[in-house]
Amino acid sequence: TEVVVVDSPDSASALAAELILSKVRTKPALRLGVATGATPVSLYRQMAVLAKQFGIDLGELQAYALDEYVGLEPGSPQSFRHFLEEHFIEVLGLDPNCLVVPSGDVATIATAGDHFEKAILDTGGIDCQILGIGSNGHIGFNEPGSSLGSRTRVKTLTENTRRDNGAYFSQPEDVPVHCISQGIGTILEARSLVMLAFGDKKAEAVASAVEGPISASCPASAIQLHPHATVILDEGAASRLE
Ligand code: F6R
Repeated sequence: TEVVVVDSPDSASALAAELILSKVRTKPALRLGVATGATPVSLYRQMAVLAKQFGIDLGELQAYALDEYVGLEPGSPQSFRHFLEEHFIEVLGLDPNCLVVPSGDVATIATAGDHFEKAILDTGGIDCQILGIGSNGHIGFNEPGSSLGSRTRVKTLTENTRRDNGAYFSQPEDVPVHCISQGIGTILEARSLVMLAFGDKKAEAVASAVEGPISASCPASAIQLHPHATVILDEGAASRLE
């Protein structure tokens, strides 16, 4: 795992944006795995700025989300589809049809995981997966205890994660209990991984992910198995590294 520590979240986002755009330069139809949450918001903005500055066409880009809540109303502002439409698609001026999100619709949930896996396979696999990390070491919504070989499936969120994500909902009880997430096995099949983490709150999870044993109790530690994983940290998130 390549670990890069920079002075601020902004510098980290700029570095990640450069890395991803250099991939788009060599492959305009890049298949990018996109994360939600606070961490990648500035990366998406920086990608837009750099693409404009260097005249890089993003029109052929295809995007695959990591996860989605189960059971929200269609079009719900708390859905990850909505989040990615606002912070990724609109910011980068992309066609909404380029984004594939696992469906959290209860009516079709039994087949949604396989359907999403097939969508990835049909396009030839994800080239580069962007990842955040939960304060409990989750990646996607693969909470501690998730199998390292897991595929896209329905999961139950931990209380810790429901609390962390409560800020996006008007009441903490409104955070869904279930989600659908790419599995750790799915994530590891991407040709490269770029993980971002900012702030002291992530320091312990980052140290376990990068320096701890590879274990389902820290799902993010699975990235050590990947031959092309880059972790970009600010000083806070790096503060517990040896
Ligand atoms: C997001 C996701 C999560 C987040 C993680 C960190 O699609 O799958 O694993 O990356 O919860 O969230 P933030 O960035 O809000 O701290």
